[in-house]
Amino acid sequence: MTSAASWRARLASSMSDGPAPPAGRRIGVLVSGRGSNLQALIDAIRDGRLDATIALVISNVAGAPALGRATAAGIETLVAPHREWSSREHYDEHLAEALHARQVDVVCLAGFMRRLSARFLERFSGPVLNVHPSLLPAFPGVDAPDQALTHGVRVAGCTVHLVTAELDAGPIVRQACVAVHPDDSPASLSARILVEEHRLLPEAVARVLAGGWRVDGRAFVEA
Ligand code: GRF
Repeated sequence: MTSAASWRARLASSMSDGPAPPAGRRIGVLVSGRGSNLQALIDAIRDGRLDATIALVISNVAGAPALGRATAAGIETLVAPHREWSSREHYDEHLAEALHARQVDVVCLAGFMRRLSARFLERFSGPVLNVHPSLLPAFPGVDAPDQALTHGVRVAGCTVHLVTAELDAGPIVRQACVAVHPDDSPASLSARILVEEHRLLPEAVARVLAGGWRVDGRAFVEA
């Protein structure tokens, strides 16, 4: 069994015997760029739609606009440029340690443009959520809206899923659809999808924090 498979097996066995225990409410957010999904989390907490605290925002990119959004909201930030670590595994261990040190319960990847290794998922035992701009399992990886347009799909959307070591393939927590218009460009379709991402991500985080779910095979099952 590969380490990725063993991580998934542990997740499945720990959660398939009954509802997950109520999670803590401290979120860590990993970002690389603009940070509009981070902002959606900040706004949802401020508006009382998400009962949680963002304990730490980590960016692998110095100067990412997301860092400014975090600072403006009074959230601790950490810049960790991945090139300064000798290997992906060492880098991911560093991230997991920083999150543990802040007693983070749930991690959100909000535009974090780096794959997390199985090592991260072994070291950080809580749920890790990712928001992706396609209706997975269609169009994983980069440039998902471009892929959707190239494929000629009539419906696009976004997915929030639990992260496994397999890229964009973990159990699906929430999805939302948007129509594809005949005159859509990658930019116009991305913008329409982004509106749904901002609604969906806080909702999915709240659902995971509420507990009472399990993973059955590939499926996120709600009690
Ligand atoms: C979003 O489209 C998200 O789905 C993808 O990267 C983009 C990040 O945007 N993973 P932002 O940094 O949250 O504005």
